[in-house]
Amino acid sequence: MIDTGTDIEFAAKCIAEGNLVAFPTETVYGLGADAFNPYAVARIFEVKQRPTFDPLIVHISEMNQINDLYDSDISDIVYALAQAFWPGPLTIVHLKSARVPDIVTAGLNTVAVRMPSHPIALELIRLSGTAIAAPSANRFGQLSPTRSEHVQKQLTDVAYLLENEYEMVGVESTVVSIQNGKCILLRPGAISLTDINKVVPCTVFNKDSSLDKLHAPGLLKSHYSPNKPLYILAEDINNLPLNSGLILHKKLTTITNANRIISTSETQNSTEIAANLFIALHTMEDDTTVSQIFIEPVEETDLGVAIMDRIRKASYRYNLNLVESKVIPNRLST
Ligand code: TXA
Ligand code: MG
Repeated sequence: MIDTGTDIEFAAKCIAEGNLVAFPTETVYGLGADAFNPYAVARIFEVKQRPTFDPLIVHISEMNQINDLYDSDISDIVYALAQAFWPGPLTIVHLKSARVPDIVTAGLNTVAVRMPSHPIALELIRLSGTAIAAPSANRFGQLSPTRSEHVQKQLTDVAYLLENEYEMVGVESTVVSIQNGKCILLRPGAISLTDINKVVPCTVFNKDSSLDKLHAPGLLKSHYSPNKPLYILAEDINNLPLNSGLILHKKLTTITNANRIISTSETQNSTEIAANLFIALHTMEDDTTVSQIFIEPVEETDLGVAIMDRIRKASYRYNLNLVESKVIPNRLST
């Protein structure tokens, strides 16, 4: 069991001494270490069992910290986005300064930075006197944690786990890359592309973007997966196989034979769905009467884009042989 509590000063001391702390942010829980201490950062990869080719986000509490992290020639686009969305769930990838250890950026010449808006995260960074490198506090590839119990379930060897007392968005930050005067969306997240486009023109990463695949290491097709099969529910399904869990985003369903039904929202409200998505998946993962999970898709507008991105990634490895919109339950026994 990880030692837990609400002592931010103690947690900050742990970070300053080169130890790991799991802490709440406004998106999901992070697993943090001093970003300028390569040994501490190396332990994040070890504890998470994360491949070292996948770089970390560096969290700051003051705007002037970007001068230690980004290269001296900081684009105006970075300032415009920071002004509009920081503190908040937007991560900005930009050319890095030589001070940032290679292990943080997986050897890339860019670094991902964000200033979280969560009061506990901000206070932790401020008191630690450094910038904090932190991925989500889950084991690599598994579900992101939105509660301290989710962190306890997946990780050990962490010096301290800070309890949360605030609401969380429930999906990770939006990641954009700013290079050569262009904004490219690398990961949909808590801030929608529509909102970003109100500040700067930004396009979704694709193979024609000037960035190559290597510069978008987070675009794995499979990610955030529960440890049992997850399928996207087709509209015309009325019957589920034995021992199924069903995650809905509204109250009513005509399906009557699910072992367990969890509704993330009674009114299909996307803020509520995002906040409850990982909680619902963790609950299904822990329920021993459920051997496979079905999840209703959501409409892909605004926050719905990030929600569907997570649902697709969470179900990707299970849906490989199925056409996404035509999940046929009796073919799912394999
Ligand atoms: O909301 C969040 O962003 C949470 C909280 C804890 O801040 N953190 C989080 O971290 O989701 P993580 O490590 O699970 O996801 C970071 C994403 C990965 O997809 C990674 O590949 C990408 O950011 N990333 C980090 N540095 C990058 C870089 N230099 N270039 C391109 N992508 C980068
Ligand atoms: Mg993650």
